[in-house]
Amino acid sequence: MSRKDSLIDLFIHDLTGPLSIASTSLHNIIEKEDKYGPISEQQRKALHMALRNVNKAQTFLKEIIEMYKSEEGLFKRDRCSIRHVLKESIIEALEILNPPLADQVSSAKQFDEFLKILEENGIKVEIKGKYDSSYFYHDEKKLQQILRNLITNALKYRRAKANISISGETDLIIKVEDDGYGIPQEKQKGIFKRFSLLKEREYEEIKGLGFGLSCVKTIVEMMNGTLTLSSEEGVGTCFTVNIPQLKEI
Ligand SMILES: Nc1ncnc2c1ncn2[C@@H]1O[C@H](COP(=O)(O)OP(=O)(O)OP(=O)(O)O)[C@@H](O)[C@H]1O
Ligand SMILES: [Mg+2]
Repeated sequence: MSRKDSLIDLFIHDLTGPLSIASTSLHNIIEKEDKYGPISEQQRKALHMALRNVNKAQTFLKEIIEMYKSEEGLFKRDRCSIRHVLKESIIEALEILNPPLADQVSSAKQFDEFLKILEENGIKVEIKGKYDSSYFYHDEKKLQQILRNLITNALKYRRAKANISISGETDLIIKVEDDGYGIPQEKQKGIFKRFSLLKEREYEEIKGLGFGLSCVKTIVEMMNGTLTLSSEEGVGTCFTVNIPQLKEI
């Protein structure tokens, strides 16, 4: 292990504990007024923003850990229900971008109800083919990470709509599409590089790091899959991922 790798390991290890304490404490102050005392609406807003940012930092750490494992070729062979993985990924994306909608979809009892709430909010989700009813065998956490990142981007950069579709009879095919401003042709290669941002958006409460897509690319390639991008300025963007199932050894 290089000196840089061991330093990164140390950072990850040392940040996990404090972030988890910060997240639990903020959550308790917001949710348990009977125990922690009343808070004003203004304080609630500020605490929510702090909590969202702490959660984002936790997700970022998890992301680094999974990416490192992928680089080592470490994959678990989980029995993945695609409906479940997709639902969790969407909820995770919404928890950061739109917490009230995350709460609303989390409480949906049936999958159809979950889809309906999303559709009312401009998010169309479709699962076609074999994996709507059969399990897909691969590393569930990493599948979720791929989906969460692409979905977060689509929801962050869309104007009004996002379409998420999953299909495939052997390989799993994921398509995540939005109607946002698109990515100019000459910038398309660059966005897969670590820490590349096309635009800093001053108004964003939670700033992107430019890390998500580089993680997705690393993981998909280590899975022997493919990741393609098609985007037109002013029209929208579509990411397509193709992942072969992990064979039994
Ligand atoms: N669907 C999209 N539409 C338009 N631009 C996009 C889209 N997805 C990614 N980008 C551009 O590519 C850049 C890199 O994306 P990436 O997901 O790596 O970073 P990010 O979303 O800014 O931050 P984070 O590390 O939180 O994911 C983004 O900053 C954005 O400019
Ligand atoms: Mg992103």
